[in-house]
Amino acid sequence: MKIKNKVNMLSFFYNIIRPFKWVFFGIIICVGITSLSVYSFFWFMKYLVDALTVCSTDMSKIGDVYKYAIFVISTIMIYETSARLREYLQLQMIPKMKKNIIDSLSGKTFAYSYNFFQNFTPAKFVYAVLQTSESTADIFIDYAVDFLKTIFSLSLACVSLFYVDIYLGYLGLIWIAIWMFAGFLLSKKTHTMSYKLADLRSSLSAKWNNTFDNIDSVFVYNGSENELAKNQKNSTDVMNQDKKLSKYIFKVMSVQGSVVVGITGIAFLYMIGLFKKGVITPGDFLLVGETIHHISHNLWEFAQDLSWLVTDIGRIKQGLDMSTSDSIQRNGEIQKINFKNHDIKIQNISFAYSDKEVFSHDGILNIPQGKKIALVGSSGSGKSTFVKLMLGLEYPQKGEIFLGQNNTKYMNEYDLRENFALIPQDPKVFEDTIFNNIRYGSFSATREEVIEYAKKAQIHNFIMTLPDQYETMIKNTSLSGGQRQRLMIARGLLRNAKVFIFDESTSALDTITEKDILNAIEEIDSSKTKFIIAHRLYTIKNSDHILVFQHGKIVQQGSHDSLILQNGLYQELYKIQIQN
Ligand SMILES: Nc1ncnc2c1ncn2[C@@H]1O[C@H](COP(=O)(O)OP(=O)(O)OP(=O)(O)O)[C@@H](O)[C@H]1O
Ligand SMILES: [Mg+2]
Repeated sequence: MKIKNKVNMLSFFYNIIRPFKWVFFGIIICVGITSLSVYSFFWFMKYLVDALTVCSTDMSKIGDVYKYAIFVISTIMIYETSARLREYLQLQMIPKMKKNIIDSLSGKTFAYSYNFFQNFTPAKFVYAVLQTSESTADIFIDYAVDFLKTIFSLSLACVSLFYVDIYLGYLGLIWIAIWMFAGFLLSKKTHTMSYKLADLRSSLSAKWNNTFDNIDSVFVYNGSENELAKNQKNSTDVMNQDKKLSKYIFKVMSVQGSVVVGITGIAFLYMIGLFKKGVITPGDFLLVGETIHHISHNLWEFAQDLSWLVTDIGRIKQGLDMSTSDSIQRNGEIQKINFKNHDIKIQNISFAYSDKEVFSHDGILNIPQGKKIALVGSSGSGKSTFVKLMLGLEYPQKGEIFLGQNNTKYMNEYDLRENFALIPQDPKVFEDTIFNNIRYGSFSATREEVIEYAKKAQIHNFIMTLPDQYETMIKNTSLSGGQRQRLMIARGLLRNAKVFIFDESTSALDTITEKDILNAIEEIDSSKTKFIIAHRLYTIKNSDHILVFQHGKIVQQGSHDSLILQNGLYQELYKIQIQN
């Protein structure tokens, strides 16, 4: 079943703002009060100027001057208070909102299939998520709120203009309408350009990440110049796209700037005419002058905000597209689980990566609980794939896999994987303490248990030589391959699993350590099923059953004694190893 994970941008915004709806509402109220106080200021200034004009011939009206002066000062005070309150409310909302976005986009990825992560570039993803969180915060504060402020302010401006003169009102209205319409049309192009820019930027971050991931090869093969050249090509692409976008915004702004100058000129000439005719008072002149200035300032901000808004929407869309994806998941609905035993049954399965079959098995393969099964065969023959299918990391396109009485394709992944302990072929540790790395096998394990299994995995003595012992912080590069393998073995053994899978987990160990670990594997409770993938056949000779893999198929199976007697791959491999 294909699960669509595409997120609709509006529903994304809605979910993000929901926990802050009251704070956001408060911010909008503050913005309303700020805009209103600006226009109250203009109006009281008009009355103040008119009162001053009267006083120049009749000083007995000086009381009005005081009154309007107090009103003017009060509006400034209200303006300042509401503006500070708005900033305070933003402070309460923005950092938390950004955190929520990062957590939710990153956390969502766990719902995707293992397959999703095969074509996944962590650096690109992390960059996109961070960018999305920044841009979303901008959307709410710099744009949503500011647009409301602009619309409110422009409406008040029109009211003021219409009050003074009907033609001035129309002039203002037409000016605002044309500008906004043009702004919307032009922003479409900016949007496409900025989406591409965001994509190029995250690719650049991925390229550098890949370089640093391979730093050993870069040093050993003197590849630094090659890396620099390769990545510079990407940074040049970013620069070019950035320039293209900035140039476009520059052009749009230049056109809009000229319009502002023209309109202001026309309005002022017209107003001087009105003043000469005695139709408007000095106060009206001041009011209209300030209003026109305010309109042009608001439109200017609007145009600028609009171009940055579409840039941010481009970034968010790119981030959401990347952090959400179609993923192939189990192809059935979840059913209730029921275990009488933990036998494994594999039935006529076939699995392909994009139409290239990598493993198939015709007929039924029964693996009773408690058996020790070995998987051998050449590199790339499908052994690790077989394990991924059992664990539900991949699902076969055809056929069934049963764990106990349950068809795994109807099992919840958590319920399924709880039964397994996998010691992977390519051991990787978390950047964390040794203790936490081992305890990952069982989050409820005690310190004593962690130490007990570290001893079984032959890693305890090494840990005790470290300065902080079990509390030592580790990462992949700070341990040898064999040390990482032993940590993984300790983690796996710690798990109270029904099925243990060792995927070449002693391949990097010396023969003596390997022998000790094989003994520890032998000691695992005999009711547990054990799968051991190995190239060195002496390590699996005593298995109950051996599956021989070749070209994505099980070509032979049986005990060691029966297989060496058959003409076939197993005998061939065995002879070569004995000769060596
Ligand atoms: N994510 C993937 N996408 C495409 N092909 C893949 C993927 N993972 C594995 N393969 C292919 O599937 C085939 C089987 O791989 P698998 O890892 O199962 O081999 P293996 O028997 O475990 O080999 P080895 O002994 O080297 O570990 C290989 O040809 C491999 O290239
Ligand atoms: Mg493998």
